[in-house]
Amino acid sequence: MSATVRKLPPANANPDWTIDQAWDRYTPAEHDVWLTLYERQSKLLPGRACDAFLNGLDALDLRRGGIPDFRRINVELNRLTGWSVVAVPGLVPDDVFFEHLANRRFPAGQFIRRPDELDYLEEPDIFHDVFGHVPMLTDPAFADYMAAYGRGGLRALHLKHLGHLARLYWYTVEFGLMQTAQGLRIYGAGIVSSRAESMFALDDRSPNRLGFDLERVMRTPYRIDDFQQVYFVIPSLEDLLAATLQDFGPIYERLAVASDIPIEAIIPADKVLTRGTQAYAREQAAQ
Ligand SMILES: [Fe+2]
Repeated sequence: MSATVRKLPPANANPDWTIDQAWDRYTPAEHDVWLTLYERQSKLLPGRACDAFLNGLDALDLRRGGIPDFRRINVELNRLTGWSVVAVPGLVPDDVFFEHLANRRFPAGQFIRRPDELDYLEEPDIFHDVFGHVPMLTDPAFADYMAAYGRGGLRALHLKHLGHLARLYWYTVEFGLMQTAQGLRIYGAGIVSSRAESMFALDDRSPNRLGFDLERVMRTPYRIDDFQQVYFVIPSLEDLLAATLQDFGPIYERLAVASDIPIEAIIPADKVLTRGTQAYAREQAAQ
């Protein structure tokens, strides 16, 4: 993820904010954190994550060892879709983030969370970024989607519609669900990298699950502090890519005069897969 942070890279970083992953310097305890998280998710995700994600884990051989060495996974990732992973110190400025994506480089946190914070993340770490995001980048349609998003991000910055575009990232790249012949599947990195949300997103009766509509998504705020109240479901990764390969200019013009849709609302135009009870959100709000 990107964020509005200071504009100058830290002293140890390159001008594009990349740093050396320094893979040789991870400690056994840090590799153990990866393995613990990996074990939990790999037991949970078959039958929940989409095939593109599970195939990506295999293609990059992420199933063995501890924290992956970017030099190793980039060989295959680059061969498959022209993408690579680059290490960054943490959140990077929006323009830097989009520039990397547009050039098929995924900026990933270099650090890993502490063993006593397995389910808590203030900033995305290497497990979220690499386990969560990188397997999907082996899929040709998703790989093109992410690069298109990077180009769109640079344009949205210029047009001052980043708030609208960020919602697209949130409800697809981070928290997207997909309809498949076998049922609903996860492709969003924020879900596949979280044990609790991997269950909540598919099984819980609380959230709404609605058919994906680009403009509708861009009108929907999101929450960063808890499980989502609404998930948007794409028919396929190819459909997601196709929706992005259009001129967002006219869409932004309409959005400039359209109101936001409350996060828990269902509107007449929605294709409703699950009308959620919103019980979880109500309970949390009451606490
Ligand atoms: Fe992320």
